[in-house]
Amino acid sequence: MAVTGFLLVAFLYVHMIGNLKIFFGEETFDHYAHWLRSIGTPLLPEAWYLYIQRGVLTVAVIGHIVAAVILARRARLARPVKYAHRPKVQGSYAARTMRWGGVIVLLFVIYHILDLTTLTLNPHGVTGEVYRNVAEDFAPSRWYVTLFYTLSIVAVGFHLRHGLWSAVRTLGLQSPRGEIYARATALVLSVVLVVGYLSVPFAVLVGLVD
Ligand code: HEM
Repeated sequence: MAVTGFLLVAFLYVHMIGNLKIFFGEETFDHYAHWLRSIGTPLLPEAWYLYIQRGVLTVAVIGHIVAAVILARRARLARPVKYAHRPKVQGSYAARTMRWGGVIVLLFVIYHILDLTTLTLNPHGVTGEVYRNVAEDFAPSRWYVTLFYTLSIVAVGFHLRHGLWSAVRTLGLQSPRGEIYARATALVLSVVLVVGYLSVPFAVLVGLVD
């Protein structure tokens, strides 16, 4: 769970930082997208790095889901007799929504790939014109797309907050002070990620990027 989660978090941060290049203008952003395809050349043929990354991410997502199912089953088997009384509210909101949060994030990623990678659902949809694809995608008239992205990215934030906290606990930080640090670190890292991602559609919405 933690190894695959770490890979996914690393991708999320690098992708978020890359997205911020949109604030440097159309030429810089499109050049960055072009550079992504040339990573590893001439050792690797053009775009091979991207395909390797896609393979690794797909394996990580599948591994993450399989680990979640195994852990859930193990937890169930550890307590074959149901609790006579189980309080409805247990743990933080993030902890209680891991399963459904994960499903929402997965559905979002599928939509997002059709939107900005294959461009099937993108209103501009021109390969190589990444800045325009993003700017047209979040145009004010398409507010519902921005709303969907916002809800999904907030779900990513909640998922990450609990995931990071669990990972830090697994590493042994279980003293009361350690727990406070773990909670604070998980919260800060998740908020930074959510704000970083959301800055792009909202910058388009208010005309800062057009
Ligand atoms: C508003 C926030 C986001 C924006 C503006 C954005 C933008 C983009 C763009 C422009 C691409 C295509 C890049 C290219 O072809 O050069 C892309 C690809 C992708 N994004 Fe995002 N993204 C956002 C959020 C996310 C989130 C939250 C996730 C994961 C949960 C994610 C996962 C991916 C993946 C997996 C790809 C495919 C990478 C590939 O081509 O192999 N993105 N994104």
